[in-house]
Amino acid sequence: MIYLDNSATTHKKPESVIYAMTNYMRNECANPGRGGHRLSLKSAETVYMCRCEIAKMFGIENAENIVFTLNATDSLNMVIKGFLKEGDHAVFSSMEHNSVVRPFYALKNKNIDFSIAYADKFGYVNCEAILKEIKPNTRLVCITHASNVCGTVNDIYEIGKMLKEKNIKFLVDASQSGGIIDIDVEKCNIDFLALTGHKALMGPQGVGVLYVKDANFLETIKEGGTGSMSSITSMPDYMPDKFESGTLNTVGIAGLLEGVKFIRKVGLDTINMHETNLTRMLLDDLSVIKNVRIFGYLTTVRRIGVVSINFLNNDVLSVADILDKDYGICVRAGYHCAYMAHKTIGSEKEGTLRLSIGAFNTKNDIKTAVYAINKIIK
Ligand code: ALA
Repeated sequence: MIYLDNSATTHKKPESVIYAMTNYMRNECANPGRGGHRLSLKSAETVYMCRCEIAKMFGIENAENIVFTLNATDSLNMVIKGFLKEGDHAVFSSMEHNSVVRPFYALKNKNIDFSIAYADKFGYVNCEAILKEIKPNTRLVCITHASNVCGTVNDIYEIGKMLKEKNIKFLVDASQSGGIIDIDVEKCNIDFLALTGHKALMGPQGVGVLYVKDANFLETIKEGGTGSMSSITSMPDYMPDKFESGTLNTVGIAGLLEGVKFIRKVGLDTINMHETNLTRMLLDDLSVIKNVRIFGYLTTVRRIGVVSINFLNNDVLSVADILDKDYGICVRAGYHCAYMAHKTIGSEKEGTLRLSIGAFNTKNDIKTAVYAINKIIK
């Protein structure tokens, strides 16, 4: 099998992730913050260590500012719905995933308005496009760092600088880039960073991350037990408790901890370089095939290894199906939960066939996939 669907979920996971999760289930697996006994304390230590590893990776000074969530969608909903108030306005880009688009549309009937900053046909959204949409009541801008549709990477450093000058809060969706591209929340003036554990951070599904710069900026959208201040009827006002109600996915966090450690051990730059080299090879090899259209940038500048294509004479779903059934190659075809992004880059008719590269892919995977695509469409 050749797996080229790493944008949906990375596969495979480092052995250390699988081992840590099994070990955690067997030897720890109590409820952190809900007891003073040894296993509860041990579980709490694992959760805390994961917070610290993530903090180191993203230049976050205080690990307590990291909240564990279910996934990036959960993190994004928490900010979009917990930050904006009646009468506010926000801006998001036309390359956003439905995890951003749908929460914003759901707020429409609550007198919270938004504008869309349109990216160019490569999926790149520049500062001017955002600036154009800013109004006196704009309080939040939400931008995807790297597109899950065509891999285009936005300049969050420049956008963050501009927003800081305007005193507008910055929410970054780093679902696709976290673990591949170096992100420093301070340098990029990020107020909220949404991540998922199961993609390039190498953890399992069911655990996400939200960095919140200041708990005072954000209201809760979910309340419940935190294991702390149990006699009061409101949520504690400090982090991470304010945003972590209910028992955490501790086994997922144990896996995520090892995933992040793995990246730090191998080196984010090394992983990035490896994926960039494979992306270059994929783009070069695809661009010489007749009847294949490639979306996004044709070079590896401002892009990650998410490569979307479609065909002049074949439909993407059928080609993806044959790739799986006849060649054992796993890709994703369709809209990738981001129809607005397809409209932006011109692939709204049927979406794209997406090949997304991960840390464990090899040159041979790329060569075989290109060979198979060539054969199928001929
Ligand atoms: N958002 C994920 C993807 O792009 C699931 O496939």
